[in-house]
Amino acid sequence: MSVSNIKITKVNSDRVKSFDFENITFGRTFTDHMFSADYIDGKWTNLEIRPTEPLSIHPGNMTLHYGQALFEGMKATKAQDGTPLLYRLDKYLTRINASAKRMCIPELPEEVFFGGLRELVTLDQAWIPPQSGSALYVRPFMFATDDHIGVRPSNTYKFMIIALPAGPYYGRPVSLRAESTYIRAALGGVGEAKAAGNYAAAMYPTKLAQEAGYDQVLWLDANEHKYIQEVGTMNIFFVIGDKVITPNTDGTILKGITRDSLITICKDKGIQVEERPISIDEVIDAHKNGSLKECFGSGTAAVIAKVNKIGYKDQDYSLAESYQISSMLKESINGIRAGIIEDKFGWLEKLPILTTV
Ligand SMILES: Cc1ncc(COP(=O)(O)O)c(C=O)c1O
Repeated sequence: MSVSNIKITKVNSDRVKSFDFENITFGRTFTDHMFSADYIDGKWTNLEIRPTEPLSIHPGNMTLHYGQALFEGMKATKAQDGTPLLYRLDKYLTRINASAKRMCIPELPEEVFFGGLRELVTLDQAWIPPQSGSALYVRPFMFATDDHIGVRPSNTYKFMIIALPAGPYYGRPVSLRAESTYIRAALGGVGEAKAAGNYAAAMYPTKLAQEAGYDQVLWLDANEHKYIQEVGTMNIFFVIGDKVITPNTDGTILKGITRDSLITICKDKGIQVEERPISIDEVIDAHKNGSLKECFGSGTAAVIAKVNKIGYKDQDYSLAESYQISSMLKESINGIRAGIIEDKFGWLEKLPILTTV
């Protein structure tokens, strides 16, 4: 399982023993080690794990100017016997390479992506929080490293993986504003890629929605502002009548791995799922006639975020907080990830337990 060509330099004294797993502020504490690889002269090389530390960057670094950068977000968990578990690795590899292709960044060989992840998570497994529903958030990312002014693809790149402990996600239900002025993605654009710039472009409309009292933007299509796309860092689902409906992946939305997992679980449980264009008018009509039962977002970070209100054209539509299907789905995914529910779809990969940690 280990990739022999990764050079490993361990920290002298790890910080994990003094880390307070009961009070995790997500986003600020990074594990002891990071993985990096360089793309130079047409190949990925310099595979290395070393103590997490700042990078030194030239002011002419192309990423800073032209944004040729992308990322992924995954979670590692622990089974009850302490075995570290990775989730749906193949899907994340497919997606990072699809994003890379669109951003004109060289794709990653399987052994670099899988090897880096397996080695880093194995080494830093003591950072996987023990509480149920919590996880180690793993952030692979790629960016241009040429020092060059002038728009062209970089000749050199870095692929890195860092990781951060994340506490249990007790998210309260969220409110969404369907956005009729700004757009996130158009057909032919980069909506399907996890390109860094997608997130920068969403910040201003999100800020406006938050100033108006909503948590997130519900993105609508670029042509007609009619068909629902997704939310912030989540795909979106509606339960209308006895059907679960989610927008189809038409090239404008991220092919969410949680989305795919939820669809698989629903179908396995005999719940009818439709992946198709769904308009904001259809959702509002369903709300008016009482058939809109649930709405929830799906993503690696939250797993499922229940939605309690949708705002559209100065009108708010509140949802009854029943959440039957969304609660069942959340328990299923968290249960599989914690090794409590049988992994019947073969989504988990076990890593070795290190006895020295
Ligand atoms: C824009 C966007 N949509 C959807 C998702 C959900 O995808 P996943 O379930 O793979 O985390 C994410 C998070 O990665 C995202 O950033």
